[in-house]
Amino acid sequence: MPYNPAPCTNDKGTALSSNDASQRVLSGMRPTGRLHLGQYHGVIKNWVELQHEYECFFFVADWHALTTAYEDTRDIEQHTFDMVVDWLAAGVNPGAATLFVQSRVPEHAELHLLLSMITPLSWLERVPSYKDLQARLNDRDLTTYGFLGYPLLQAADILIHRAGKVPVGADQVAHVELSREVARRFNHIFGREPGFEEQAEAAIKKMGKKAARMYTDLRRRYLEKGDADALERARALLTAQQNLSVGDSERLFGYLEGGGRIILPEPQALLTREAKVPGLDGEKMSKSYQNTIRLREAPEVVDEKVRTMKTDPARARRNDPGNPEVCPVYTLHEVYSDPECLDWVAQGCRSAGIGCLDCKKPLIDVINTEQKVMRERAQQFEDQPDVVHAILQEGSEKARDEARETLDDVRASIGISYK
Ligand code: TRP
Ligand code: SF4
Repeated sequence: MPYNPAPCTNDKGTALSSNDASQRVLSGMRPTGRLHLGQYHGVIKNWVELQHEYECFFFVADWHALTTAYEDTRDIEQHTFDMVVDWLAAGVNPGAATLFVQSRVPEHAELHLLLSMITPLSWLERVPSYKDLQARLNDRDLTTYGFLGYPLLQAADILIHRAGKVPVGADQVAHVELSREVARRFNHIFGREPGFEEQAEAAIKKMGKKAARMYTDLRRRYLEKGDADALERARALLTAQQNLSVGDSERLFGYLEGGGRIILPEPQALLTREAKVPGLDGEKMSKSYQNTIRLREAPEVVDEKVRTMKTDPARARRNDPGNPEVCPVYTLHEVYSDPECLDWVAQGCRSAGIGCLDCKKPLIDVINTEQKVMRERAQQFEDQPDVVHAILQEGSEKARDEARETLDDVRASIGISYK
């Protein structure tokens, strides 16, 4: 088969999974320094789209970095700067989204403290990442109070801004779930209005002994343990009640979820569509595996990295046919190339019509095209670091204003506002 030039064009966009424009979006990222393509396609590209549809808050989770690496703090500020330059280079727009640094908004810490008072230890101990990371990162000291509490710190990050939607990867969904449970518990404890509870308790009695006992039991299991199954069963129980007035019925639905006033609304995880960006060795692209292509890399470095990227080992010689399904280069094509190009790769690979370098060439081109504008944008910020500092300063002030409002409400509902 003769060599055909590649019909590759540009990359595809990321789809939004919701179009509810009324809600606030918040997400954070630990300061890990310059970004790689896995973070760009997996997270940042999604932020860039969200910022036009929602009110967005994006922040550098610098306290979170301390929860797993307090021994080495030298690079935090530099990593924050480098990462934010990459956000800006990738198109995160400080005119559209509020960008801030967590530790510049100390209200997060006060809410974390207050939430810690009502959070059962068992809720934190059962968060999957707790035991998981302790087992995996055994070169670190993860036996601290801060590490146990970091999902609660994340809950405070989310709840202080009353975020409705939290774009996260699958590994973080449990943390958003914890935030929901903590919010519900807080509202339950501090959001009750006078008389509400008495009315609800009176309505329970009207259901008859057996149903009343069941309702009380299921409600307790849901509110205290977050048992979703119990919530479903209690709702079904209420729906089946014949002799409740509409008012009592609504009261009991509300009471089931804590009742009373919502001080901290429950957030929803916005699951980011996983763009699987393979690393140069075929493993997941990750800084710790040293298999990354960075967001703005010199063109000759992109060239070199892709040329030496792992391929289907069965294609030892040019004439050996290959299998794109097992080749990380093909997976990278799936991130960047259109169907026509993918076809060209798959057929050329299986028939040995193209060589691996032919296959890699359009990929190198498309990555370098994507990076060109980012390199240029980043350079402007590198040349004027004060602009970056001002963006974060301004964003942090705006975030503080928002956070203070929530905190005032929280303090008042607890009864410590001293006004
Ligand atoms: N824990 C997240 C991570 O490790 C970062 C993070 C901190 C976050 N606070 C958040 C993400 C609030 C979303 C919302 O990736
Ligand atoms: Fe991989 Fe492309 Fe080589 Fe096939 S031709 S083995 S897809 S690099």
